[in-house]
Amino acid sequence: MGTPDPELFPLPVWRRLLTAEWRAATIRTAGYRDAAGHHGLREAVARSIGRSRSVRATAADVLVTHGAQQALDLVGRVLIDPGDVVAVEDPGYPPARHLFHSLGARVVSVPVDREGLDVNALPGGARLVYVTPSHQFPLGTPMSLARRAALLDWAGRHDAVIVEDDYDSEFRFSDRPLDPLHSLDRAGRVVYVGTFSKTLLPLLRVGFLIAPASLRPALHAVKRLTDWHGDPVTQAALARFIDSGELPRHVRKATRTYAARHELITEALAGDLAEWLDPVPSTAGLHVCAVLRPDAPADIPAVVTEARRLGVAVEDLASYCHETPRPGIVLGYGAIPTDRVPAGLARLTRSFRAVTKR
Ligand SMILES: Cc1ncc(COP(=O)(O)O)c(C=O)c1O
Repeated sequence: MGTPDPELFPLPVWRRLLTAEWRAATIRTAGYRDAAGHHGLREAVARSIGRSRSVRATAADVLVTHGAQQALDLVGRVLIDPGDVVAVEDPGYPPARHLFHSLGARVVSVPVDREGLDVNALPGGARLVYVTPSHQFPLGTPMSLARRAALLDWAGRHDAVIVEDDYDSEFRFSDRPLDPLHSLDRAGRVVYVGTFSKTLLPLLRVGFLIAPASLRPALHAVKRLTDWHGDPVTQAALARFIDSGELPRHVRKATRTYAARHELITEALAGDLAEWLDPVPSTAGLHVCAVLRPDAPADIPAVVTEARRLGVAVEDLASYCHETPRPGIVLGYGAIPTDRVPAGLARLTRSFRAVTKR
């Protein structure tokens, strides 16, 4: 779930770029660097997300991080005092919830419906709202335009900051998606967070944030205090990877592969599995979610265990729910070869059958 396919990673290109960066000239200037990260990478990220996500930014706006997780940590350290309220989606991304909790926040769960986060249910005093508008984690639905506008309006009225985690929307299987909250934000309320964990590999540990100007000095100071500047060699290689056009090429190729897997799963959800599951519409990313039909009671934890016994890893949607349990499953397709998807789906169907017969 959520893991990209390591077989798709362009290893020879990456190895060549990395070797090229490990040259004497790099070492000779081996002092500490800017805590905001490698300048070339910041420029490349700004250009690339301008093109792919309509995010308006310059290199000066970009702070390179160790993945999205460190971006959330930095924002939390700057904005959260112990006891402050942080609103997160329910169901949602547990590492974000746990992180904000670890920083002393009072984390409040806000339900998500078909349009995304229920803005009317936001707690009045929230200092920070963490959302995944492009591809809600884990349901997969995009936040509607009306909800995006309402959330920005809410943040303005309550002097809150929105953290927009745009973790996997590079892989999309239909028309151009809605622009990120960041590009609708006229009041400097949104911190945009991106990562290369899905487009490339989580082990690279490279992500970034784009913050409103008012937060930038504090974020820069906290980055320097907690970590300094990450790995400039990897960052320089990544800059070249983006600038040479390898990244969009890789994303296009990977998108074709993931689209085929997504289609196979969507077909099965509309076919054999429709007896038990209703798919949650989703046209991006590395996973799909399906909820249990109200007229088809099945013990989801038992199905997940049975599927695992048969060699298929699916996730129980309940493990992402905090206050509002929803019976359902989440199917990741990043790490399974396309030709094994049909057999996996057949085994999942068998698991449902076995469990509902008991
Ligand atoms: C919602 C969400 N945000 C961010 C990430 C990526 O985090 P990182 O960049 O720290 O690897 C993931 C990966 O699973 C995710 O699901």
